[in-house]
Amino acid sequence: MSVLAVTNLTKRYHRGGKPFAAVDEVSFDVGPAETLALAGPSGSGKSTIARLVLRLIEPDAGRIDFEGANFLALSGAALRARRARLQMVFQDPLAAFNPRATVARVLDDPLRIHGIAPRSERPHRIAALLERVGLDTGLAARAIHEISGGQRQRVAIARAIATRPSLIVLDEAVSALDVSVRGQILELLLDLQRQERIAYLFISHDLGVIRAVADRVVILDAGRIAESGDARAVIADPQSAVGKALVAAMPKLIRNRP
Ligand SMILES: Nc1ncnc2c1ncn2[C@@H]1O[C@H](COP(=O)(O)OP(=O)(O)OP(=O)(O)O)[C@@H](O)[C@H]1O
Ligand SMILES: [Mg+2]
Repeated sequence: MSVLAVTNLTKRYHRGGKPFAAVDEVSFDVGPAETLALAGPSGSGKSTIARLVLRLIEPDAGRIDFEGANFLALSGAALRARRARLQMVFQDPLAAFNPRATVARVLDDPLRIHGIAPRSERPHRIAALLERVGLDTGLAARAIHEISGGQRQRVAIARAIATRPSLIVLDEAVSALDVSVRGQILELLLDLQRQERIAYLFISHDLGVIRAVADRVVILDAGRIAESGDARAVIADPQSAVGKALVAAMPKLIRNRP
């Protein structure tokens, strides 16, 4: 059974008074502990799909099944319980968190809100989460704006895994990081996936990164799926015009790496 199955998902916006489909009858699924990448040029609908899957916005048509349940039909306590299993990491954790909040506070929130640990146990849980993502436990008392971008993204990952999710949606989660930090964060994500069996919906415009981490890739073009398949196979031999253009834009060194 897949963790996430999206069927004929459609989201329309208006542009210059005329409706257009930012996401147009898109279907895909993500298996347990699998990484499915969404690629495509700017404006192709990647972030809109992320927001739909997270139910930050509602679709005009289509269906989302998460852990076997009709996710769009859930509300109230059932939705809250299921939401704990579906987490997110975005490009800019400074925008996602209150920059003045401490690291401990950011990690305490999901533990408290989802009733994962009683107050007395939470400091210990927070320390364990920090260690899990390779951060010094002394960082807990620091404010979000006082730590580095790479450290912030590790905190965002710690927060995402706090509720033991089956799926994490990552929208350009490593795009703002410099190359060496990016590699370390990708290693951490792969390690967590192996250990905790987390599936990733991994959004990136960078096919080099996708090639390194994704099992399968879906390439979007103007809200529609242009092609999809095994990530390495698609990147080695893209069939669609947009896939060919994205691959042609990759540095040769990365494209040909074994
Ligand atoms: N709230 C909105 N209102 C109107 N149009 C929107 C809205 N959100 C997104 N769009 C439009 O929908 C299309 C898809 O946007 P989306 O943000 O999903 O693209 P993307 O693939 O994530 O692009 P990028 O790589 O630049 O992040 C774009 O044309 C965008 O302008
Ligand atoms: Mg986007």
